[in-house]
Amino acid sequence: MTTKTVAELLSQDVTLQDVTVKGWVRTFRANRFIALNDGSTINNIQCVVDFENFDEALLKRVTTGAAIHVTGELVESQGKGQSVEIQVRELEVLGDSDPETYPIQPKKHSFEFLRENAHLRTRTNTFSAVMRVKSALSFAIHKYFTENGFYNMHTPIITGSDAEGAGDMFRVTTLNAKNPPLTEDGEVNYKEDFFGKEANLTVSGQLEAETYAMSLGKVYTFGPTFRAENSNTSRHLAEFWMIEPEVAFMDLAGNMDLAEDFLKSVLGYVLEHNEEDLEFLDKRLQDEEKGMPQAQRSPMNLIDKIKFVVDNNFKRVSYTEAIEILRNSKPNKKKKFQYIIEEWGADLQSEHERFLVEKHFKCPVILFDYPANIKAFYMRLNEDGKTVRAMDILFPGIGEMVGGSQREERLDVLKEKMAALDIPEEELWWYLDLRKYGTAVHSGFGLGFERLVMFSTGMGNIRDVIPYPRTPQNAEF
Ligand code: 4AD
Ligand code: MG
Repeated sequence: MTTKTVAELLSQDVTLQDVTVKGWVRTFRANRFIALNDGSTINNIQCVVDFENFDEALLKRVTTGAAIHVTGELVESQGKGQSVEIQVRELEVLGDSDPETYPIQPKKHSFEFLRENAHLRTRTNTFSAVMRVKSALSFAIHKYFTENGFYNMHTPIITGSDAEGAGDMFRVTTLNAKNPPLTEDGEVNYKEDFFGKEANLTVSGQLEAETYAMSLGKVYTFGPTFRAENSNTSRHLAEFWMIEPEVAFMDLAGNMDLAEDFLKSVLGYVLEHNEEDLEFLDKRLQDEEKGMPQAQRSPMNLIDKIKFVVDNNFKRVSYTEAIEILRNSKPNKKKKFQYIIEEWGADLQSEHERFLVEKHFKCPVILFDYPANIKAFYMRLNEDGKTVRAMDILFPGIGEMVGGSQREERLDVLKEKMAALDIPEEELWWYLDLRKYGTAVHSGFGLGFERLVMFSTGMGNIRDVIPYPRTPQNAEF
């Protein structure tokens, strides 16, 4: 008899058969009904024990959180809400769980509490559903790019370059823990560099991805990136995962088409493959929003919101048009924006982005052609001499989901830009080489993976869609 997963058992036709299953007890009611979960599905399988047939001491050990092994007959369920159940013949407790100390009780826990128990929180329905959806999204991303002729590449985590020029990086040092270099005062000298060179944890794999696009044509990365910004928001992590496609001979319009098609495809995949989890998360969100004022509730339920994005065109608007819209608008009848955009050239605040996406257009928006001075050095300068071929994709409830651009492919223009920003040519000589030898129009973008997971699961805090969030507050795991 082979061990089956709960998902397999629940999808099986019942013809009184011998089965065996292993999992963790969610609840044990009336000394008779064990709700067993093994992570394969949001649903538990009910295991019915006839207590007269089992040792009392054994049944006492069937507590919430215990790992058990059950063998019995799979039969049609008498109870409501499940099609099949197991009539238990053999029961073994593989790992006890002390009910006095086990933190995950069968009741509603706050997300703050569960964050402190991040090592156990996937034993709840919400977190196991989020992580299954996340895994499916990851697969859908690799599937999309593979089926569209992209090659996957890994870019360095430790790097000397600062791709975004934003300046908030984690510095890497070499440190012999047993024999650390000391300062004159006898303190550990953390200023030692990486084998004599300055190195940081990468903020983006883009520059390296560009080098591969200029030989392999279409590539993408999917890896960890690090930002030392001390921003304590529900959308920022110090360590997050980014997907960065990069394509040779593709301009900004092609980049927008790619990003839109890609997002619709991966969201379509989870709609098709993660129905039960999404239905659960949808209901969770509705419960959470019940107590909120109408204005704060989502206008659509989770599944409809995802479907809406899959089925409708994103709105494409230039930065200049967006500024006009913002200038002529009030976020509500009385109130103006807190930050009023006085001049063309200012960066948009998240209240502006939210207004454009949630109130004005009511759909995902691709903003493009931003002022050059608020964007990174590598973006292609437009013929007007003041805007660059940048694009940000803004999503309802999330804000910036994607940031990308057509890259500056002209050596002289790129050099001028770097000089103006004090970026030494020696540091990026290899990047400049791409413009010296066979340069061509090329473009790409970066998608923040955890933000996509937030949108797909309806979770409101980015710390709840990554197993062990790295933020200024959550560093103990
Ligand atoms: O807009 P960003 O900074 O763009 C880049 O890094 C480019 N090099 C990408 C490229 O063109 N290849 O970051 C891209 C995306 C953002 O749109 C956002 O979704 C996410 O990464 N992101 C973060 N996600 C979580 N926590 C943070 N601190 C993030 N910073 C950016
Ligand atoms: Mg950005």
